[in-house]
Amino acid sequence: MELYIDTANIDEIREAHDMGVLDGVTTNPSLIAKEGVDYAKRLGEICEVVKGPVSAEVLALDFEGMMAEGRERAKIADNIVVKLPSTVAGVKACKAMSDEGIRTNLTLCFQPLQALMVAKAGAFLVSPFIGRLDDIAHDGMEVIHQIRTIYDTYGYQTKVLAASIRHTKHMVECALAGADVATVPFSVITKMMNHPLTDSGLEKFVADYNKAFG
Ligand code: G3P
Repeated sequence: MELYIDTANIDEIREAHDMGVLDGVTTNPSLIAKEGVDYAKRLGEICEVVKGPVSAEVLALDFEGMMAEGRERAKIADNIVVKLPSTVAGVKACKAMSDEGIRTNLTLCFQPLQALMVAKAGAFLVSPFIGRLDDIAHDGMEVIHQIRTIYDTYGYQTKVLAASIRHTKHMVECALAGADVATVPFSVITKMMNHPLTDSGLEKFVADYNKAFG
């Protein structure tokens, strides 16, 4: 499973990249707003650090606007993936960009038919939002399973990118469900290597050794 970081914070991106296991980055307008930086400038900075796919979202809601913004974002670097909404206009822009050779990530996907449509339109990635479905008492992980089954049944190449991940249990479930990619906040990435028995085990190894050999 590929691991992306879901942030626009350049320090977090550098730190995750330094771990050597980071495959890509996802950003969105809310994450950029949180940083208070120019979106295009920050995307350029991110692409200098991470050579894997970097998702850059458009703000337009109409087809022409998405195309104009998407083409601009794609010029920033070769590894930019244009993030489009899972709407009728978004699927149309997805098809047009795929035909132009621009990779896309169809975001705000909440049900399997959106994923089916964007795969038909040639999306590079689809982003089902697990946490936001769980927030409203649905089962976010069930959507990952449904999309996985549909894509495997018909041989669609679109990668399933599990998004809106809130905790490590989501990560375990995504890996078991066969998500191709998971995009996660920095706080979750660091917790993926945590276990209290690892810490106590290390303490005991060191203590035993020091007791025997000073
Ligand atoms: O990648 C999508 C993600 O940023 C949404 O996460 O926590 O805002 O639902 P969240």
